[in-house]
Amino acid sequence: MKIISNPFELKEYLKNKNETVGFVPTMGALHEGHISLIKKAKEQNELVVVSVFLNPTQFLKGEDLDTYPKKDEADKHICKLSGVDILFFPKAEDIYGDDEVTINAPKVRGFVLEGNSRPSHFNGVLTVVMKLLNIVNPTRAYFGKKDAQQLNLISLMVKQLFMSVEIVAVDTVRESGGLALSSRNAYLSVHERQEALKISASLHSASMMVSKKILDSKEIVKKMREILSPLEIFYVEVLNRDFEQISHVEIGNTVILVEVKVGTTRLLDNIWL
Ligand code: PAF
Repeated sequence: MKIISNPFELKEYLKNKNETVGFVPTMGALHEGHISLIKKAKEQNELVVVSVFLNPTQFLKGEDLDTYPKKDEADKHICKLSGVDILFFPKAEDIYGDDEVTINAPKVRGFVLEGNSRPSHFNGVLTVVMKLLNIVNPTRAYFGKKDAQQLNLISLMVKQLFMSVEIVAVDTVRESGGLALSSRNAYLSVHERQEALKISASLHSASMMVSKKILDSKEIVKKMREILSPLEIFYVEVLNRDFEQISHVEIGNTVILVEVKVGTTRLLDNIWL
C-alpha cells in the first residue's frame, strides 16, 4: 500500500493510470462500517484509494474536533489488511489555504435536520468532498447510508455541478444489538451504549408498523418518540428520498431518520423503506 500526503503528488500518481478507481473518503478512526465501504470499492474497481482526513471545516465552534478519535496507526493497518492500494493522508494545510473558495450547501436541504442544529456543517462537508474528488478523480466514490443527509447532498452536488463520478450508497453496518457503527460510539459509556439501543429499537418498530401496513407518518413518529424517550431528540422524520416531508410512507421511496443526544454524544441513524 502506498501512503501519500501531498495532493499534487497523488494527482500526478493517478494521472496516467488507466484503471477504474474506487474512492472511500473518511475522517479516520476506521471501523467495520468503513471496511464495508472499502470492500464494495474493491469489488467494483481495479484500484482503491482511501483518504483519512479529519476535516476541520465541517465542525462548528465548540464541537468535538479536538477530541474526535484519532487512530492513525490502526487506520493504516486496517487499510493495508483490507487491500487498499493508496492511502491519502493529508494535513489540514495540504488541503486548505487562506481566503478559500467554498461550496455552499443548498439553502433548504442543507439547513434542515442535521443542518438545522449544525448550520454550516454541510458547507464544510461538500467543500472537502469536492476537493477530495478533484484530487482523486475517481470512477466511483463510496458513502454510508447512515449519513443519509450527507449522501443526499453529495449526490445532489455531483448532479447539479455536472460531475462525472458515480456515487455509491452502502448499507449501514450494525453491532449485534442493533447500534449503527460510528466513530463517535467511542464516546459512549457502558450505560449510554445501552441507552443508544433505543435508536435502532425505534427504527425497528417503525419498520414493523410499516410491515403491518401502518403508513401514517405522524403515527410512526409518535411511536418512535415514545421508544426514544427520555433521550434528547433533535429530530424524527419520515421523508421521501428527495428529503421532502411525506404524510405516509411510500414503499421504495422513504427514509426514516433519527438524531438524538446520548450523554453528550449526538447519534444519528435511519432506515430506508
Ligand atoms: O462521512 C465522513 O466521514 C465525512 O463527512 C467525509 C465524507 C469523509 C467528509 O469529511
